Amino acid sequence: MNDTFLKACRGEPTDYTPIWMMRQAGRYLPEYQKVRSGRTFLELCKTPELCVEVTLQPVDILGMDAAILFSDILIPMEAMGLELEFLEGRGPFFPQTVRDRATLDRLIIPDPDESMGFVMETVRLLRKELKVPLIGFAGAPFTCATYLIEGGSSKVFWETKKMMFTDPDLFHGLLEKITRCTTAYLLAQAGAGAQALQLFDSWAGILAPSDFEACALPYVKRIIADLKPTGLPIIYFANNGATLLEYSAASGADVIGLDWRINIGDAIRRVGDKAVQGNLDPLALLLPADRLRVRIKNLLDDAQAAKGHIFNLGHGIHQFTPPEQARIAVDAVHELSRR
Ligand code: CP3
Repeated sequence: MNDTFLKACRGEPTDYTPIWMMRQAGRYLPEYQKVRSGRTFLELCKTPELCVEVTLQPVDILGMDAAILFSDILIPMEAMGLELEFLEGRGPFFPQTVRDRATLDRLIIPDPDESMGFVMETVRLLRKELKVPLIGFAGAPFTCATYLIEGGSSKVFWETKKMMFTDPDLFHGLLEKITRCTTAYLLAQAGAGAQALQLFDSWAGILAPSDFEACALPYVKRIIADLKPTGLPIIYFANNGATLLEYSAASGADVIGLDWRINIGDAIRRVGDKAVQGNLDPLALLLPADRLRVRIKNLLDDAQAAKGHIFNLGHGIHQFTPPEQARIAVDAVHELSRR
């Protein structure tokens, strides 16, 4: 078992810097496209044998040091009782949004083993196959709430902020319910065998610091505190969160995920005694090989002072990235960081 990733999470010395990439299982891989063709994304998410196959692909093909469970942050939102669709080319869609008390009251806190047994089965199957650690994950409550309130992805987040500013009781009631669902869901993943847990706060960066502190951070803190007894490393990734780093560091997470909009050395100085994960611009993977290697070398140098560094992209790998470029990055990180 290659446990370099877990050691880096815990801030222990490693022989080299481990690397994985957010959204590493996905459309940029022809092997994924093949499994995905002829079925919907949700069908794929609910078929453990296929989830196992696509989870393993980036580990086997590209040499990643960690695997991330193949699923989606919106799976537990569907389990709370909301119909979910993924529209081709448009992303997630909830036909019924949550914008009033009656709809909020109808949401359930699902038993994860009952309603998302396919996820736990995927975790169990993966643990039999994997030679690298398995990361489980969930969306952070604020990010999940935006999808339920908007009904899908958004640019301005009008409905979310409208609720936040005009009906805080309803807004916090929703965050509260999502938090309870998320904690139970992540505990179930840990029970099934996940070896680290990541919370994705993809939309945290749209919030003013004071709103982040009031509406996002408390729920993240609670989830992390409730996961502590599992002993698993917890990674918190607030996308576009350079202005929120001190708050993220106060979340209780062991590892702070970083997007690419901040120099990693500056971020390390601000998060203090914590491991960091990041933070290559996903599109920098398009650099010619020699310049990509220099870029990676500089990033590794800038991250020297970290208590632990897990190399990653600053956000998910883009669907049009040539897989060969990801391979060049993985090899460069392994080679250039070898101690
Ligand atoms: O390899 C992995 O990282 C594991 C699988 C994974 C997926 N989604 C699969 C997926 C993970 C960890 C996620 C997390 C996720 N999902 C996030 C947080 C990370 C981030 O990107 O900020 C968010 C916001 C979502 C919600 C979501 N799912 C959106 C907005 C979309 C549409 C946009 C897109 O990239 O297609 C998805 C769909 C999705 N989730 C795909 C995959 C592989 C593409 C589905 C397809 O095959 O068509």
